[in-house]
Amino acid sequence: MCGIVGLVNGHAVATDLVTALGRLEYRGYDSAGIAVAGPGFAVRKVAGRANGLKDGLDASFGGQAGIAHTRWATHGRAEMRNAHPHVYEGVAVVHNGIIENHAELRAGLAADGHEFASDTDSEVIPHLIAAARARGAAPMEAVRETCGALHGAYAIAVLFEDAPDHLVVARQGSPVMVARGEGAAAVASDPTALAGFCDEYTALEDGDIAELGREGVVIRNGAGSLANRDWQAVTAAEEAGAMAGFTTYTRAEISAQAAALVRTDDALAARVLTPQIAAAERLVVVACGSSLYAASTARAWIEELSGVPCDLEIASEYRTRNAPLSRGTVALLVSQSGETADTLAVQTMFRAKDVPVVAVVNVAHSQMARDAELVWPTRAGREMGVAATKSFTCQLLALVRFGLALGMARGAVTAETLARIETEIASLPAICTAAELLEPQLKSIAQRIAYENEALFIGRGPAAAIAAEGALKLKELSYIHAEAYAAGELKHGPIALIRENSPVVVCGGDHAEKTLANAEEVRSRGAAVISLVGAADAERFGPISAEMVVLPGVGLGLIFAQAVAVQLISVHAAEALGCDVDRPRNLAKSVTVE
Ligand code: F6R
Repeated sequence: MCGIVGLVNGHAVATDLVTALGRLEYRGYDSAGIAVAGPGFAVRKVAGRANGLKDGLDASFGGQAGIAHTRWATHGRAEMRNAHPHVYEGVAVVHNGIIENHAELRAGLAADGHEFASDTDSEVIPHLIAAARARGAAPMEAVRETCGALHGAYAIAVLFEDAPDHLVVARQGSPVMVARGEGAAAVASDPTALAGFCDEYTALEDGDIAELGREGVVIRNGAGSLANRDWQAVTAAEEAGAMAGFTTYTRAEISAQAAALVRTDDALAARVLTPQIAAAERLVVVACGSSLYAASTARAWIEELSGVPCDLEIASEYRTRNAPLSRGTVALLVSQSGETADTLAVQTMFRAKDVPVVAVVNVAHSQMARDAELVWPTRAGREMGVAATKSFTCQLLALVRFGLALGMARGAVTAETLARIETEIASLPAICTAAELLEPQLKSIAQRIAYENEALFIGRGPAAAIAAEGALKLKELSYIHAEAYAAGELKHGPIALIRENSPVVVCGGDHAEKTLANAEEVRSRGAAVISLVGAADAERFGPISAEMVVLPGVGLGLIFAQAVAVQLISVHAAEALGCDVDRPRNLAKSVTVE
């Protein structure tokens, strides 16, 4: 979270910096700021989005080196005073990450007479660098010395008032790229931000410190030795899909699912498992948020198709426990962005234990993709909406394909099963499109939920995971409190939540007769049952439902249709309540802090 960018190129950099920063807005949009060098610093900060910086870049912003930042608040409220860059005595810093020992460092600095202007953890960094400079350290050394005092994760870019044509960049834990071009050098959290400003980039490694100037980029590793790295061409981010007549990107991206599934399936057709992965005796699937729910939805399919047991783990929890790994374990990491901090930390753990990692990842140039033994791609295309929509269904498809490939490699898939799954997969794009046609009905359900201001989602098997995704989507887009439970768990406590008219969204599917019984239980306590079922179950769910949506598809297909249905309910609930569907409060598209 947070996006940083810096540029030095022999021209006034302010406008280009704001353009590059706008491309990083998906990493957070609480506030934005820019500092441009000399004479002195020109600094401008705004609450909210990066393009707010454009107005007010007056003649004082003529400097030829600068840094900028778009914030997702961690320490300190989302207010102007906490916006980056943080400036202290000739040192300006932008930071992505979390400094875990900031309180202790701040106390030490305060005892030496330092006064702070913000509540952020980041502000200690320019103070420490300035203190090192005051003791006589050159810019690079001052940054190195400061990094030695920091605990936690950081990607920082530093601008010095007395070296106005250079930037210093350091990394520990948080991804950052440095780039070079004709008479130009740059830094950014994501290389696509630098398209048009530099030609090639390389990712810094943990412990690296780099100096950037018009003459090029010098990288030193943690030991202080010059580091030679591979450079890759800077390319523009994939174009955002068209809004196609919709009023939000999120809604357009729901509609783009059919095409995204076709692209993903084409890309997966070319992938083969390595012998080591094909020989997996156990899978550990690790992810966060919607990606975790995609994994949770697909787990039963993977186990069924491959015969390989599949454990599911929340990345932020898994990384904190020293779980024993049995021989033959293969890790499957699922991530849209490929840069979620907790999932990346788990990847590092697996690497240290020589566990092969398969990355089911959407962003092809991401660190997760770079570091994986095998990339098992999704091709959802760029998601402009913060909420996962098309990336979720593409993950479902990729995971089914992975289970199938594993099962085939082990001789566990019969010709009959293969034919059935291929037929089901081929029907998925059309099923998503058909589910979308039920929008008017889903919209009226959304309005009922918005009116009641709460919802419970239940299901069994893969549909229990879709219920979880539905509750997450509703919460994040509409801020309505929503809970999801495996239908059989209700009577172990959550059924106490039910009151007259409580909306309970029931995702039918496998073991429908049992789910039906659970739906009856909530109905008899006053709940309004909203059934999302296939045609085969319409007759039995109809009589107990306050609303029933008969979705297309059976098996796999029904799950994809339910995914589309819960997305549309969430979008319409958000719109009914006047929420910003594409940029929900408090969120960011890339979660690069723990
Ligand atoms: C919800 C959503 C998040 C992400 C989660 C993991 O709509 O988008 O829950 O799924 O932050 O992100 P990735 O998939 O990039 O690892």
